[in-house]
Amino acid sequence: MYRFDNALFNFPVIRKHFFSDKEYQLYLFSEELIIIDNQAKKAKYEIKLNMTTTLNWIVNDNKIQALEILYNNKMKAFYATSNKFQLLREMIAGRVFFSGIQNFYGIQMKVGQGMSGEVYRAVSQNGDYVAIKKCEKQKLTSLQGGIPQLIQELQLLQQLSHLNILKLKEVYSDQQFYYIVTDFVDGRTLHTELLSRPTGLSILQTLKIMSQILNALIYIHQKGIMHRDLNPHNIMISENIKLIDFGLARIIKNQLIFPTAGTPGYIAPEIINYKQEKQYDEKADIFSLGCMLYKMLTGENLFRKQKNIFQENKEGIFELRKNTQHPECNSSKMDQLFVLLAHMLDNDPNERPNAQFCKQLLKEIENNNQQIDKLIRKQQIMKPIYVATDETPIERTPQSLASQNKVKSSDTIIKSDDITTQGNKRLTKIILKNM
Ligand SMILES: Nc1ncnc2c1ncn2[C@@H]1O[C@H](COP(=O)(O)OP(=O)(O)O)[C@@H](O)[C@H]1O
Ligand SMILES: [Mg+2]
Repeated sequence: MYRFDNALFNFPVIRKHFFSDKEYQLYLFSEELIIIDNQAKKAKYEIKLNMTTTLNWIVNDNKIQALEILYNNKMKAFYATSNKFQLLREMIAGRVFFSGIQNFYGIQMKVGQGMSGEVYRAVSQNGDYVAIKKCEKQKLTSLQGGIPQLIQELQLLQQLSHLNILKLKEVYSDQQFYYIVTDFVDGRTLHTELLSRPTGLSILQTLKIMSQILNALIYIHQKGIMHRDLNPHNIMISENIKLIDFGLARIIKNQLIFPTAGTPGYIAPEIINYKQEKQYDEKADIFSLGCMLYKMLTGENLFRKQKNIFQENKEGIFELRKNTQHPECNSSKMDQLFVLLAHMLDNDPNERPNAQFCKQLLKEIENNNQQIDKLIRKQQIMKPIYVATDETPIERTPQSLASQNKVKSSDTIIKSDDITTQGNKRLTKIILKNM
């Protein structure tokens, strides 16, 4: 039974009938809306607050007059004062689909085109800008995973609230389309920014952007979510950096939905060469971020043969070359950033620093620390190192390595290409040289 005194919000609503109107009470709980008949005192309508529900608002003169629900295949309208409904709308925004988007927003112009749909700038009733991503249902159905994938994106986005992550406001649906309403970002994508910067961004700008992307990654990774599609089209530069497009985002531990996905040129090797028996995790985002860092520092794509970027990405062969045209090419900060890059782009996800550590390392680089490699190796030495043989992998702790005189101190362990993890050969060729 419902504990009505625990309701988040409640108010009276009216069903209009020909001879006499009937009064009900509407209760909002964390997981559902309940409408009860005051006399009978038992719940008459129960509406789940999830993406299987669509609610329609009846609007007149820019004011919500009634809430309409589909119940036993019939539409039922409940009337109340518009300010109560307005509050209710805000309290359940993003949790269910609404219909009748044209009653609330006026579309102004197209601002972006993605795989899943077109993005528009629109204006709300009170004059605020929003962005609306319009996804065609028929197109989605024809794509593998289409609609469930969209619902998953929405459910993930709805849980997120962070300065560097695009905020989901509401979702609407009609016969033909889904509409995802988010904050409007008044700015440009990192992709657009880089188009006009053939030698890349300054180190200062790069550090600023990286640090804010990492804030977003630390936040989602802590929540057990990975983005899976980090690339310059999905980073927007405005007053703050905003991570957008959670279309491919997944709950890391969810083993069922882990296909190969991403944007060629930015996909981690463990995703592009995905094998059923080997799950991947949030370290894949670190690889993609490494690809972006490379692009920001050089203006070049890491996998640069435009002819078959997917194949190049798949084979995992790349060179880390500084751009000699970059004004800060020979600075020590650039050297240290390239050291960090090599680690972020490690073929082995376990060897990549996590988002939190990347953030610390960037801070060190900003403060002119010249020992980034040492810091990373120190961190790596804290965890077990696996040394593969032809047969079974042997686990070696730093102590056991040291005791075998392989290393003299924790600072001198050399990560070389013949140390493989869990029997996997390193595929990535990392070469450091000037262009
Ligand atoms: N909230 C927003 N504000 C402004 N522009 C946006 C917004 N969301 C998306 N865009 C623009 O639309 C493009 C496509 O959006 P995105 O969500 O990445 O779609 P897709 O999943 O199809 O790639 C982005 O690269 C960006 O240029
Ligand atoms: Mg996108």
